Amino acid sequence: MLPCQRHLFDIPDDVAYLNCAYMSPLMKPVIEAGATGFARKAHPWELTPEKFFTGADEFRTTAAQLLDCPADCVAIVPSASYGIATAARNLPVRKGQTILALDEQFPSNYYPWQRLAEENGASLKIVPWPEDHDWTAAVLSHLTPDIAIAALPNVQWTSGGRLDLVHIGEACRRLGAALALDLTQSLGALPFSVRDVQPDFAVAANYKWLMGPYTTGLLYVAPKWHAGQPLEENWIQRANARDFASLILYTPNYDEGARRFDMGERSNFALLPAATRAIKQLLEWDVAQISLTIGAMNRQLAGAAAELGFSVPPEPLRAPHYLCLRKKAGIPAELPETLARQKVFVSVRGSSIRVTPHVYNSAADAERLILCLRQSVPLAGSPVK
Ligand SMILES: Cc1ncc(COP(=O)(O)O)c(C=O)c1O
Repeated sequence: MLPCQRHLFDIPDDVAYLNCAYMSPLMKPVIEAGATGFARKAHPWELTPEKFFTGADEFRTTAAQLLDCPADCVAIVPSASYGIATAARNLPVRKGQTILALDEQFPSNYYPWQRLAEENGASLKIVPWPEDHDWTAAVLSHLTPDIAIAALPNVQWTSGGRLDLVHIGEACRRLGAALALDLTQSLGALPFSVRDVQPDFAVAANYKWLMGPYTTGLLYVAPKWHAGQPLEENWIQRANARDFASLILYTPNYDEGARRFDMGERSNFALLPAATRAIKQLLEWDVAQISLTIGAMNRQLAGAAAELGFSVPPEPLRAPHYLCLRKKAGIPAELPETLARQKVFVSVRGSSIRVTPHVYNSAADAERLILCLRQSVPLAGSPVK
């Protein structure tokens, strides 16, 4: 397990920040990488044309290591919604077919599929909340021959429920269904391998578990879709982009692999080096170690919360890094503010308190949360559900 890494972050001792699923804090070296990149535009004469490509390719190579795929399969996107929209633009669905999603799925991974289904005379099927916490079994039982696309996460974001994507991927391939993934609440904190899961598309926003800046993200595109249609037609996706003098010699050809799906201005000189630096740190820590470290913290928290009457899905049905504490009577709606006044930071999502620590948290942070819950939750509050 990893020792506490708080020294790499600017988190005051009296702040117990247990809300990585909302937004991770930036590490000091990530801020430095971003600041150096931002300052580069003070001297635009030094921003030579090849710099539009080197930073982007470094990001691609680093992201590919995390995803366990070739760098050619990674596109640079600004958000999860952009990646999902790219998948929805390219995955075919016919009249009478079905797109599968989960109950309470994050909106960025719901609306594009709702629209795609509507536009093609298809329907959206929602996997209901499994009372036994087993999202994998629930998905497998809904994978019927009419499914054209399974649009899923690795972790259901309001329960912390974990999906076994290796088994789900196999089942999709047996049916001929495409698999489109939103990994925003898992990549970087839960081991994942493109080689094992074999999705068609997989996206993650960088600002949570990838510890990068806001408005950056990565998109895996399987080789079979590399001839697909990007959302935008911009100059840097094209085969002749490296020759700035010849950009108006318009070409029908795109750059190689998934680069055609890159967003416009993808060579962001401030954000991209910061995003790359953050993923390099995750690789150095090793995602399996990160998962073990956060998992141990959450196991202790889950035990203490259970004594206070919260229900917690059992492992391995819940993801180790993602703890959702439920109470039948509901969660006082004012709880996050009550805790924030004591500088303890968590979220309320649906009818649960979402606790998502990371390697910057100490045992003292966890103890403070439990103390605050002991004082605050038995008090009457307006139930959320
Ligand atoms: C599961 C999930 N996906 C995606 C996002 C972010 O989506 P977007 O990048 O489209 O803003 C979030 C943010 O909370 C999320 O929880």
